[in-house]
Amino acid sequence: MTEQERIMQLRAELHRHNHNYYVLNQPTISDQEFDALMRELQDLEALHPELADPNSPTQRVGSDLSQEFVQVEHIRPMLSLANTYNKEEVREFYNRVREGLGGESFEICCELKFDGLSISLHYEDGRLVRAVTRGDGVRGDDVTANIRTIRSIPLNLTDAEAGSKDVRRDLFSTDGQGDLFGRAEQKNPWPREFEIRGEVLMPWESFEALNREREAAEEPLFANPRNAASGTLKSKQTAVVAKRRLDAYLYYLLGDELPSDGHFENLEAARSWGFKVSSHMRKARSLDEVFAFIDYWDTERKNLPVATDGIVLKVNSQRQQQTLGMTAKSPRWAIAYKFQAEQASTVLREVTFQVGRTGAVTPVANMDPVQLSGTVVRRATLHNADFVAQLDLHVGDHVLVEKGGEIIPKIVAVDEAFAHQPRGPKVEFITCCPECGAPLVRYEGEAAWYCPNETGCPPQIKGRIEHFVSRRAMNIDTLGPETIEDYFARGLIRNYADLYELQVDQLSGANDSRIRSARKTIKAIDESRQVPFERVLFALGIRFVGESVAKTLARNFKSIDALAQATLDDFLQINSIGTAIAESVIQWFRNEDNLRLVERLRGYGLQLQLSEETLSQQSDRLAGKSIVISGVFAHHSRDEYKALIEQHGGKNVGSISAKTSFVLAGENMGPSKLEKAQKLGIDIIDEDQFLQMIGE
Ligand code: IVH
Repeated sequence: MTEQERIMQLRAELHRHNHNYYVLNQPTISDQEFDALMRELQDLEALHPELADPNSPTQRVGSDLSQEFVQVEHIRPMLSLANTYNKEEVREFYNRVREGLGGESFEICCELKFDGLSISLHYEDGRLVRAVTRGDGVRGDDVTANIRTIRSIPLNLTDAEAGSKDVRRDLFSTDGQGDLFGRAEQKNPWPREFEIRGEVLMPWESFEALNREREAAEEPLFANPRNAASGTLKSKQTAVVAKRRLDAYLYYLLGDELPSDGHFENLEAARSWGFKVSSHMRKARSLDEVFAFIDYWDTERKNLPVATDGIVLKVNSQRQQQTLGMTAKSPRWAIAYKFQAEQASTVLREVTFQVGRTGAVTPVANMDPVQLSGTVVRRATLHNADFVAQLDLHVGDHVLVEKGGEIIPKIVAVDEAFAHQPRGPKVEFITCCPECGAPLVRYEGEAAWYCPNETGCPPQIKGRIEHFVSRRAMNIDTLGPETIEDYFARGLIRNYADLYELQVDQLSGANDSRIRSARKTIKAIDESRQVPFERVLFALGIRFVGESVAKTLARNFKSIDALAQATLDDFLQINSIGTAIAESVIQWFRNEDNLRLVERLRGYGLQLQLSEETLSQQSDRLAGKSIVISGVFAHHSRDEYKALIEQHGGKNVGSISAKTSFVLAGENMGPSKLEKAQKLGIDIIDEDQFLQMIGE
């Protein structure tokens, strides 16, 4: 066998093993054997760059290079469905279908409604050629490179591109497994061209593992698997996507030469071609059967490995679908029935109050433990004082708890079913901070009550230090919340400046085994002195000064001293800075305690001004210009262009308007942007012209 033949053989074999593992859940070889085949293929491909194939199983691990998404038009528009939350409307839908079909008999295909994001996969000659997100239904993002990393999506339905069909027969007839997907005979060959649509999602297990990792790294958590899947699929690095373990269920086959008139039958065929199609689809012949399906899954869905948010009902025959047609927005032949968010009823025992880093006080309901969406819930948020008052909440009340799209469960109502029972004392919102006793205050336009004792209230102090050391701020990664708690309790730190006074022996105490980690901590603190000014500014924890505001302020004022002196007018000169931010910064620098902190940080050698290097790279060449970026670039990534625009005093904006100064356009600029720019007579500048403009 030549090396070329071996490559083709390995690719086909690895595709088959992926399918066995990720679609059928029936691996036939061990992980080690799989890895060995993969390594062999990687080595051979390295020797034969001329045989590179984006659909090779080796490409599923992705790359760290930054990619840009190009917008493309869908071959067939991607419609959405009419939604309902009530069974009466399902009955009406059923009756409308019956009438629309003039009494003809029909079947309804009942399916789970997967809660992820929809994707359209386009295949030609059995190969995945493009994967596009829904976008606005007409155009979406080309996310093919990311989709290739999803192991359950077949990249090649056939190894036909390997050359002769004989190779294929050789490969698979001898091992008794039939062809690529274990079929002895191919009943429904795939059409030369087709689209298959479905949902990309993150299984619960991957989602929970991901959030555990993010928690450990002090990164913000994803609220639910859908957000996690969507954030992942939009990632610019395919390697990140590959690690996140997405999955995909396919539920709609489109094309001119489909195997059957029946939607259900087409999906069964697609399953036999290697696609992951849910095994929970059923054809119903009566409304009762439809309702039975809904009722069954309303509870049973809790045992599924992925999130679902309803049931989709589709008229099965495509001929009948055509007869029924469309409304302006959605097909008349389908409807989505959405489940109510899961609720549980339990008893309120006590309301406690939690003080956050900013001093905001959140009321928390402590309840009798209750099972909800797979976990036991004991605490739920009550949001704020207004919400508590609105509920007229009493201790001992039965309350309804819901886990919506957020991680933290919330109280939605008092359970009226128990309204006749005697009630305990009314829940009163506190007037003083539960942590430090300071009288609470309320700021104009905000629902929350705040503890104003910023420098003396423990959770605020600890929260500020946690923020200061966090990865995107000073990145002192050896200091987690528990260590900070420990140092705080031992009286070693009262604010973030104290970190720079810490000594190894203080941290380790008399305990020798702690010396190593203490040294590491001191080293990390030491190294943070080099963190650039804009991140120091972010680390200070000034209200409303997030990462990007900190960057803008650093670029405009260049040093902390200039910032401390700035007047309201100085701030308002800056495009993206409004009065709320300006006043918050001015306030912060009026506080003597803060000024003392800054002086101490200066003494410890922190960067309180832009570095010479950054300063020398700055210019005013784009001052006052609003610039739109569109398309794909050759010399720099889109993010780099954004940074360059800011570095030279310009402003990057998202959409074209009469105020746009010019469009920086790469390859494949979106046609709607192009049209708009032309209509408004706005200059379109290419990469080279732009680089010349800023003197690069
Ligand atoms: S069929 C014209 N089937 O729900 C039919 N959609 O608005 C188009 N979804 O955008 C969709 N599970 O993202 C269909 N079994 C299923 C589905 C499903 C989830 C999503 C899909 C669509 C939205 C409905």
